[in-house]
Amino acid sequence: MLRIEGLCASYGERLVLENLSIEVGKNEIVSLIGANGAGKSTVLKSIMGLLRPTSGSISFDGAEIGGRPVNNIVRSGISLCPEGRRVFGNMTIRENLEMGAYVRTGPVLSDIEHILELFPVLGERLNQPARVLSGGEQQMLAIGRALMARPRLLLLDEPSMGLAPIMVDRIFEVVKSIWSQGMSILLVEQNAAMALDICQRAYVIETGRIALQGNADELKANKMVSSVFLGRGE
Ligand SMILES: Nc1ncnc2c1ncn2[C@@H]1O[C@H](COP(=O)(O)OP(=O)(O)OP(=O)(O)O)[C@@H](O)[C@H]1O
Ligand SMILES: [Mg+2]
Repeated sequence: MLRIEGLCASYGERLVLENLSIEVGKNEIVSLIGANGAGKSTVLKSIMGLLRPTSGSISFDGAEIGGRPVNNIVRSGISLCPEGRRVFGNMTIRENLEMGAYVRTGPVLSDIEHILELFPVLGERLNQPARVLSGGEQQMLAIGRALMARPRLLLLDEPSMGLAPIMVDRIFEVVKSIWSQGMSILLVEQNAAMALDICQRAYVIETGRIALQGNADELKANKMVSSVFLGRGE
């Protein structure tokens, strides 16, 4: 479904991604794990067209999308739930959700209803400004907003960031149920334990390069992954 080959990307002169190749198949959850500053968000920005790759190919359902404008990529079926959530604090929850449908035509009401089934707590506060929500609720809203575009591939950038463990569990449960309804997901996480529990395959990124890849169980058993990312020293 998504195939990235030999991707290089830089900020100005500074090369941040180097010859990176990643694939996400239909109805797969694939995790991208790595330390602070490894380049995880940059991969997602490159896929979304927020950053133009310097070389390499990004294809989606067989069509090259690398370097296309963001609206075009969203319309083709990819949606990003960004790092740090970035909900619009002064807009209501309903308005935040409607914004997610901005690039498409067609009804929004049935989509909002579907999102409220996933996150009932949002339904109780539809007309309140998003800034009153807790961090976990804002994360739910950000995921809901990304779903409003009706993606086939959902990109999640560190949905667990800054949340209490119980809230992280709830968010991951919903991610799983979105997946079970047929979504393909590329999940970026520093929380490698959660990410490896939920995904089928994963890539480990280190300073802009893929250092390791494999299915989730293989990576959980890997010495480097367990000492660096799972906190299991020898
Ligand atoms: N807009 C920018 N301009 C210049 N350098 C940037 C920019 N955004 C990120 N970088 C640098 O690029 C590198 C990769 O950043 P990126 O945000 O992709 O990392 P990350 O893996 O998502 O990290 P984190 O876990 O902290 O979110 C880092 O060294 C970062 O400082
Ligand atoms: Mg990041």
